[in-house]
Amino acid sequence: MTRQSIIPPYKGSYNVQNDFDGNKSFNWNEIEKNFSWHQTGKVNMAYECIDRHVEEGSGEKTALYYIDENSEQTITYRELKEATDRWATVLKKNGVKKGDFLFVFLPKHPECHIAILAAIKLGAIVGPLFEAFMEEAIRDRISDCEGKFLITNEEYLQRVPLSDLPSLETIFLTDQHITAANAISIPEELAHTVVEDNIIEWVNLEDGLNIHYTSGSTGKPKGIIHAHRAMIQQYITGRWVLDLKEDDVYWCTAHPGWVTGCVYGIFAPLLNRATIVLHGGRFNADSWYETIEKAGVTVWYSAPTAFRMLMAEGVETLKRYDVSSLRHILSVGEPLNPEVIYWGVEHLTLRIHDTWWMTETGAQLIVNLPTEPIKPGSMGKPFPTIETAILDDEGNNLPVGEVGHLAIKGPWPAIMKEVWKNKEKYASYFPFDTGWYLSGDLALKDEDGYIFFQGRSDDMINSSGERIGPFEVESKLIEHPAVAEAGVIGKPDFVRGEIVKAFIVLKKGYASSPELLANIRLFVRNRLAAHVAPREIEVIEELPKTKISGKILRRELKAREIDKLKVVEV
Ligand code: PRX
Repeated sequence: MTRQSIIPPYKGSYNVQNDFDGNKSFNWNEIEKNFSWHQTGKVNMAYECIDRHVEEGSGEKTALYYIDENSEQTITYRELKEATDRWATVLKKNGVKKGDFLFVFLPKHPECHIAILAAIKLGAIVGPLFEAFMEEAIRDRISDCEGKFLITNEEYLQRVPLSDLPSLETIFLTDQHITAANAISIPEELAHTVVEDNIIEWVNLEDGLNIHYTSGSTGKPKGIIHAHRAMIQQYITGRWVLDLKEDDVYWCTAHPGWVTGCVYGIFAPLLNRATIVLHGGRFNADSWYETIEKAGVTVWYSAPTAFRMLMAEGVETLKRYDVSSLRHILSVGEPLNPEVIYWGVEHLTLRIHDTWWMTETGAQLIVNLPTEPIKPGSMGKPFPTIETAILDDEGNNLPVGEVGHLAIKGPWPAIMKEVWKNKEKYASYFPFDTGWYLSGDLALKDEDGYIFFQGRSDDMINSSGERIGPFEVESKLIEHPAVAEAGVIGKPDFVRGEIVKAFIVLKKGYASSPELLANIRLFVRNRLAAHVAPREIEVIEELPKTKISGKILRRELKAREIDKLKVVEV
């Protein structure tokens, strides 16, 4: 097959073309007219996602279709409204109110979505936690913002270090019969709860909506808080970039603990009245293709690692399924190799549309609209009205083709509201006093305005689209009794983009052995999460450090690793 450097758009009727043609000067006020609060003044994300559609006659439409190995479940918009009203009543009765931090620690399951949306109905600030987090990852997050409430289940509760979390006032469990003392069973409570009328708490556009913790190259993960106003951009990117229509069956593969799973897994599709597909369980090529076939997925949003894993399974697996319902595919989170796009064109007969954004940006900013040509290797172009630049270290604009800091002119509707209790960190995104938000990514622009990702300006690791701070992993490694020092980097990897690799110096009296290294890896895995535990650990005599401050030179470790890979390639 020929590898085109430009893949033209397919013919079709796309929202962006229908809404936008001939109106190139759209402004955000125009978009706001799509929300009921534009008329009523009553703001709440969950109302716009659910209740509004029921009131407008779409109550019998499927909101959620859940599928796992053993079961399937369909929930209509009316059922979702009733469930979230009931859950919100229980939460309210037990003290949850506007502005409270409420964490949700549940697997990919409709209950996770219901919990998140019910809390939002009350104006609480929701912190969805990734299902594979272990004790310390949970403790760091809940304790940082002094979370008051937690919705989880008995199985996951085993991983919540309750004695370290004095701020937690109430634990809600999704199990019917519970053994945990001082917890509330939601099903049990629901059995004797009369749903309160008008349960929705009306808020301001600037009020807190959700909090996602995200890693940088230093310190512990930071709490990024978004406001209800984010819905403006989340709705319109869902409409124009995902091209969601009311009859779409849409599958975003991310868990709501990650920003993609929350924003584009819950908010954007519901704001657009689409049907959400939820797949329970881990990645498995057969069950993924089967999900597309069974649910009749039309729009699919996933990540390069997942596409590469599907590619690695071979086309024979793909051929066993009918995935012809698919009409639009998108990707996010890490560089999308041209190879993957060519695979999509050849075997799925569809282009894969890359999108770029960050936890902090709250919504997609650089995209490939379905109506635009795709240049494989590029992340696309800025979403309409979004202004981007490539800046040098002093904040000057760089010419076409030069690599520099990828910057966005703020503000835009979905930009973070704050970094929790960290004004300094928030300010660090805007170093030049000129309104440019610095992403930390390095990129270049071509003569047509397409943006090409070139790496990070810091040491952050991106493994399978998950953002990992090396400092967090290093800190955990040196808590192990055998580890004196540790330096952690992202080592290039064909499937995962990067893998976490640790270089460690052992304490005196310890000798390297496969058992010891496995034990060290498990030590991190059992405390933080599987995806941050180093896949490779190398014992060295000494870590490279800066002469003056003695800081670990991760860049040098990475350069050495890349050199080694080059040797292998030869
Ligand atoms: O480095 C960029 C990478 O992921 C970072 C943001 O990570 P996170 O906050 O976890 O959000 C992930 C999904 C919204 C960015 O700074 N990244 C995101 N999208 C892309 C990407 N790198 C290359 N290509 C992309 N399309």
